[in-house]
Amino acid sequence: MIYLDNAATSWPKPPGVVEAMTRFMEQVGANPGRSGHRLSVEAGRIVYEARELVAALLHLSDPLRVVFGANATEALNLAFRGYLRPGDHVVTSSMEHNSVMRPLRALAAGQQGGPIDLTVVPCSPQGFLRPEDLEAALRSNTSMIALSHASNVCGSLLPVREAGAVARRHGCLLLVDAAQTAGVYPIDMEADRIDLLAFTGHKGLGGPTGTGGLVIGERVALERLAPLKRGGTGSRSELEEQPGFLPDVFESGTANAVGLAGLAAGLRWILDRGVGAIRQHEVALASQLITGLDETEAVTVFGGKDAARQTATVSFNLSGLEPSEVGLRLDDEYEIMCRVGLHCAPAAHRTLGTSPGGTVRFAPGAFNTMAQVDEALQAVREIARQA
Ligand SMILES: Cc1ncc(COP(=O)(O)O)c(C=O)c1O
Repeated sequence: MIYLDNAATSWPKPPGVVEAMTRFMEQVGANPGRSGHRLSVEAGRIVYEARELVAALLHLSDPLRVVFGANATEALNLAFRGYLRPGDHVVTSSMEHNSVMRPLRALAAGQQGGPIDLTVVPCSPQGFLRPEDLEAALRSNTSMIALSHASNVCGSLLPVREAGAVARRHGCLLLVDAAQTAGVYPIDMEADRIDLLAFTGHKGLGGPTGTGGLVIGERVALERLAPLKRGGTGSRSELEEQPGFLPDVFESGTANAVGLAGLAAGLRWILDRGVGAIRQHEVALASQLITGLDETEAVTVFGGKDAARQTATVSFNLSGLEPSEVGLRLDDEYEIMCRVGLHCAPAAHRTLGTSPGGTVRFAPGAFNTMAQVDEALQAVREIARQA
């Protein structure tokens, strides 16, 4: 079996992840940050360690600026619904996932806050955004630029560092959706001038589902960012109002401590191995995949077809076959797991010209080998020959 669906969720998980979760359930088990007994203290230590590891990965000096939540989607909703006010203008790209697009569209329609003004800057048919087009879209009332770091459809990297410079010049915030890059591509919140970063724990970070969060940079006015939910935090229990300090203000309710124990183990593995080494491996996989697919008759590869300018996620189609049919045959006949269709990113598919049918998406990860990529290419060649 070959798993090529790491853009949806990574699998297998790094060594140590399952063990850390099992250890938590068998030996710790308590509620972090609530009680004073040793098990609760140990649970709190594990959660704090996960915070420190996220901060280390992103070159962030203050781990308390890492706010944990269920996934990237929740983090993005917190950032958008918590920060944006009626009359704010937001600039985003046409390569966004629906977890960026849907909350912004709802705010633009005056639902759950807003109405905001929204500009979606068109990207090239290869899925790239020109920084000058981004800057040209800014207005005097622009309060946020919101960009995916990389497309979940074709892997194209968006110009986050340039966007950071644009945001500083215009006095607005840069939010980055790092769901596809955290753990597999170097990120430096300071150097990249990222103000808000949404991450998910279950993809490149090697953690379990149900983990993720929002990293809040120092330029974000905390008093302006309203929590999505309020409730028990284990701190300032004498108050009937939400405490105002990080991370508690945004972390009401019992944390997914067992998940965060797993996430911490995933992060330790990534930091030990090095994001640079993981990136190098994924560039090699992507390069082999792009070349092999591109050489196959009847196959169209989407995106920039340059491994250096994208993640390892590669989208393609086979002429005369629906993506769903290709996916089914890959699963049934070759035991190759991939994802087909629109990948929760309809605007990206319109940009790439692959709407409404979508594409077949191969997304190798840190544990895939070049031999597996070769096998997948062989399978595509056979299916193409029979088409
Ligand atoms: C670019 C991008 N943003 C956001 C998300 C949402 O992540 P999650 O489902 O973990 O909330 C995904 C997940 O597929 C994604 O690919």
